[in-house]
Amino acid sequence: LDDLLAEGVRGRRVLVRADLNVPFVKGQPGVIADDGRIRAALPTVTALRDAGARVILCSHLGRPKGAPDPAFSLAPVADRLGGLLGAPVALAADTVGDSAHGVVASLVDGQVALLENLRFNVGETSKDHGQRGAFAAQLAELADAYVDDAFGAVHRQHASVFDIALHLPHYAGGLVLREVEVLRRLTESAQHPYAVVLGGSKVSDKLAVIQALLPRVDTLLVGGGMCFTFLRAQGHEIGRSLVEDEMVDTCRELLERAQGKIVLPTDVVAATAFEADAGHEVVPADQIPADRLGLDIGPASVAAFSDALAGAKTVFWNGPMGVFEMPAFAEGTRGVAEAIAKLDAFTVVGGGDSAAAVRALGIDEDAFGHISTGGGASLEYLEGKDLPGLAALHAKEH
Ligand code: 3PG
Repeated sequence: LDDLLAEGVRGRRVLVRADLNVPFVKGQPGVIADDGRIRAALPTVTALRDAGARVILCSHLGRPKGAPDPAFSLAPVADRLGGLLGAPVALAADTVGDSAHGVVASLVDGQVALLENLRFNVGETSKDHGQRGAFAAQLAELADAYVDDAFGAVHRQHASVFDIALHLPHYAGGLVLREVEVLRRLTESAQHPYAVVLGGSKVSDKLAVIQALLPRVDTLLVGGGMCFTFLRAQGHEIGRSLVEDEMVDTCRELLERAQGKIVLPTDVVAATAFEADAGHEVVPADQIPADRLGLDIGPASVAAFSDALAGAKTVFWNGPMGVFEMPAFAEGTRGVAEAIAKLDAFTVVGGGDSAAAVRALGIDEDAFGHISTGGGASLEYLEGKDLPGLAALHAKEH
């Protein structure tokens, strides 16, 4: 971005790919539950505006099926962005059609427009190289330069993060640079003891990162829905808790290989139903009643996890410890987040859900070394994968 600013952007049309994929309040589409990703996009947008660029923002939101769908419109994001910038943000009704061209043509220096959800166009996510390339070429017609600031989407081989770089002079945004710098520190120069805390619902989503991290970390704390597959692998009764039967053997192997590095909850909050007002009680993790399901880790586990974290010099946390959106099942996530926040360590919160949990629970964001905007992206980076959106920034042709 500094290179682009140094070249001068006054009057130039700059296409900024951001990750404005914000969560909506459950059951209330259009009501933004956490605007962290919109706020994270502001520094790049502001730097470009201040330098007189005509800023064309674009993003995906959710997973619509390649056609316009009002439930996935970026309209609420345009409103929130306008509020945060203190200047209106025009929303184009389409991505590359007449409306997009019209809105871009009407921009004056320093103004910002937002294109509609990129995933309303089938070319954005297509596996067909030609179809994706054609969409990228259409997007490129709207602008003179391209800035990738969508760290949360750099692991996707999609038109607006990958193919586009072949069509326009391209630059990394400040957010992408900062995120990569932090994650590189975790992979290349993490100080020990290095502890990782993983939560979220599925082991299968985290398997690759667990395998990559196990040899490199000293402790791996596992909470959230995924802990029940591990507890089952230890032979415990887990009642009606979430379990991935096909992963039980894999979890058993991981536990053997980990030689004590993997720490599991010792107690859980077991509920009668997956509902905010369901009856619930704290039970030992190896004695969950047959008719109950675990929706959070319990207080003894929070204490044990906090002890295991004490003295750590590096911590990476991805995934809530329980269903934090429901107050009755939020204490595990709160307790672990607070324990991490207190450490005298380099602490990184990775992932949309954990970042949203920190803000939703009112925990001081500044107490963490870094809160990543990328869930899947930060995990894939830590796995050591080549990320298409980062590789594209080295592309030559345009
Ligand atoms: C995310 O929420 O992790 C990013 O916005 C990517 O979204 P996706 O998983 O739908 O590609």
